Amino acid sequence: MKILVTGGAGYIGSHTTLELLRAGHDVVVVDNLINSHEEALRRVERLAGRPLAFQKVDLLNKEALAEVFAAAPIEAVIHFAALKSVGESVVQPLRYYQNNVTGTLNLLEIMERHNVRRFVFSSSATVYGDPKTMPITEDIPLSPVNPYGQTKVAVENILGDLYRSDDRWGIAILRYFNPIGADPSGQIGEDPNGIPNNLVPYIAQVAVGRLPHLPVYGHDYPTPDGTGVRDYIHVVDLALGHIRALDKLRGETGLFVYNLGTGRGYSVLEVAAAFERACGRPIPLRVLPPRPGDAAVSYADPTRAERELGWRAERALDDMVNDSWRWQSRNPDGYAAGGG
Ligand code: NAD
Ligand code: WQD
Repeated sequence: MKILVTGGAGYIGSHTTLELLRAGHDVVVVDNLINSHEEALRRVERLAGRPLAFQKVDLLNKEALAEVFAAAPIEAVIHFAALKSVGESVVQPLRYYQNNVTGTLNLLEIMERHNVRRFVFSSSATVYGDPKTMPITEDIPLSPVNPYGQTKVAVENILGDLYRSDDRWGIAILRYFNPIGADPSGQIGEDPNGIPNNLVPYIAQVAVGRLPHLPVYGHDYPTPDGTGVRDYIHVVDLALGHIRALDKLRGETGLFVYNLGTGRGYSVLEVAAAFERACGRPIPLRVLPPRPGDAAVSYADPTRAERELGWRAERALDDMVNDSWRWQSRNPDGYAAGGG
């Protein structure tokens, strides 16, 4: 199929684009490069041994986006493009709603105009907020606790209304848990701007000496070692989940919602210890108060995706941190330095 991947130069988008090319699909990437580098796409082409088409387009520029659909017979869209920093969304809510919600509305309107009705959406476990019972199933009520999460729920609601208005749509809403890791080649990976917000990119920068120590946010959560527990999932497993979702939408219409996680949680200290094993260096820790808004524990019930998509995360925590470390150690300054 010819697939349009929005946000395809980003962390999850670049890994998914690689797996799409490996699976024989043709890919058109649109990205405004606000949080990514075109270099990622060049490396994806090298790894896949096949070219892709790239258009530097902002989803807020509806005319430019319409031209992409006019120029190529797109059959399905995987929509990653979004702003994703929780803290930034609290400070700049209008920018987040504008980019994430209006950008998606533009895309859906143009798809409708061109009779393209297969859509895979990057949602997030953040839509669940801080649920009281684990594991998290897809059916619990949504209660996001920040504007970023609200933008994901807003788009999920729009997609529900859209499907109810026209059942020719095939829509898969994928709620990711905590993606980490990198392609085992070490050529592509996560390259955050500035100081990382997320745990594994932070640890990786401590390991290469860019940051002095890991802040551990909270040590007396009701968890076995007192630190926060999350469901980390290898980004390659996540990418493969998108291919399975696409396969499903090839054969049927409908509105489908899936958790993509492993179903198992690890604490901050367990992840730090695994990373120490991977890199062979100590990760100095500094215990700080909990980060506002953080849940103690979050892990998925991924059984619906296994039952309906035949997809299951296969890669273990050690694979995830080994691959994160390979990427970080070969590209200590990310894509900007042009190494790899
Ligand atoms: P990322 O920032 O690496 O990728 C997003 C890409 O979208 C970037 O390349 C960025 O330049 C592009 N983009 C943003 N706004 C755009 C616009 N208006 N027009 C065109 N391109 C635009 O983020 P990621 O980690 O790869 O996340 C991909 C998707 O998955 C996002 O929707 C994110 O909200 C969601 N998600 C991410 C995580 C995570 O922890 N990484 C977890 C759950 C959900
Ligand atoms: C994981 C654990 C922290 C950093 C966020 C977003 C969520 C989703 C994924 C997009 C927690 C602890 C972290 C650090 C630490 N993104 N931690 N020191 O908070 O589960 O989810 O990213 O949709 O929306 O909220 O992930 O990696 O930030 O934190 O101790 O320097 O690591 O407290 O327990 P989180 P994370």
